[in-house]
Amino acid sequence: MDSIINVESLRFRYPKQVVDTIRDISFNIDPGEIFGFLGPSGSGKSTTQKLLIRLLKSYSGRLEIMGKEGSQWSHDLYQHIGVGFELPNHFSKLTGLENLNLFATFYAKAGVSSNVLLPMELLELVGLVEAAKQRVAEYSKGMKMRLNFARALLNNPELLFLDEPTAGLDPVTSRSMKNIILGLKRQGKTVFLTTHNMHDADELCDRVAFIVEGELKLVGVPTELKLQHGERSVLVKTHAGVNGEPSKDFEYPLATLGSNSEFIELIQHEQIQSIHSKEATLEEVFIGTTGSRLS
Ligand SMILES: Nc1ncnc2c1ncn2[C@@H]1O[C@H](COP(=O)(O)OP(=O)(O)O)[C@@H](O)[C@H]1O
Ligand SMILES: [Mg+2]
Repeated sequence: MDSIINVESLRFRYPKQVVDTIRDISFNIDPGEIFGFLGPSGSGKSTTQKLLIRLLKSYSGRLEIMGKEGSQWSHDLYQHIGVGFELPNHFSKLTGLENLNLFATFYAKAGVSSNVLLPMELLELVGLVEAAKQRVAEYSKGMKMRLNFARALLNNPELLFLDEPTAGLDPVTSRSMKNIILGLKRQGKTVFLTTHNMHDADELCDRVAFIVEGELKLVGVPTELKLQHGERSVLVKTHAGVNGEPSKDFEYPLATLGSNSEFIELIQHEQIQSIHSKEATLEEVFIGTTGSRLS
């Protein structure tokens, strides 16, 4: 399968900086993947996204998007991709619907795919129908983020870039954004997603890349990383007894659990409070491999 994004030895330095912000990073993204870029604030996630969408151009190394070297793309790249920026910038004097209608004209005659959703349908998707005719100036942060998201989908792009799509959202809005992202994946779309939220990365991403100070430290599948870095054992906790005996912890190797007579005895005869396998969390993997914290 050909990669939809292929990055090799990418380096970038902002004009007035004395050190490189992106330091020799390489990765590839397969079509249909949700690829997460996970790293603490200031590590270079947004910069990488800006390089990928050609907002920043003076890089060294190779950067191929949909089979074409970055520098070979003209403005028509934007007919194929959708971009959600970290900070939504809308026309605040216009309504949500007017904003989408305006940005839709940008794609109008380009012959984009026939499955495009109309602005009103997109507002429905992100739960903003009732606010469609309200000025964006009156929107909450969550509403602006959702409008931002709808805007990224105007041209029904096959490849989406979402910069911190759930940052600062309340749990309900965050949940609905994640559901939409998972829905896009089911439609076969590819998503490049940056986040410093390891729970979201864990839930959404097929693969994650850890970036710290402009360097890629690790790329992998979340479930595999958690297994590799955790202990292959289960922790069983029993209930406290009625006579005041404290609850107790027992640990058994995962591999031989089915034939472990002590374990079987325990679950047959004791009141069990909880059983957990001790795989690492993605955050523990991150800290363990990079030595840094996510926030
Ligand atoms: N326009 C800019 N000019 C100079 N330095 C910048 C600019 N934008 C970001 N940086 C610096 O580049 C580094 C990476 O920033 P960024 O990519 O925004 O990180 P992240 O998205 O991971 O939080 C930071 O040290 C930041 O200060
Ligand atoms: Mg950022």
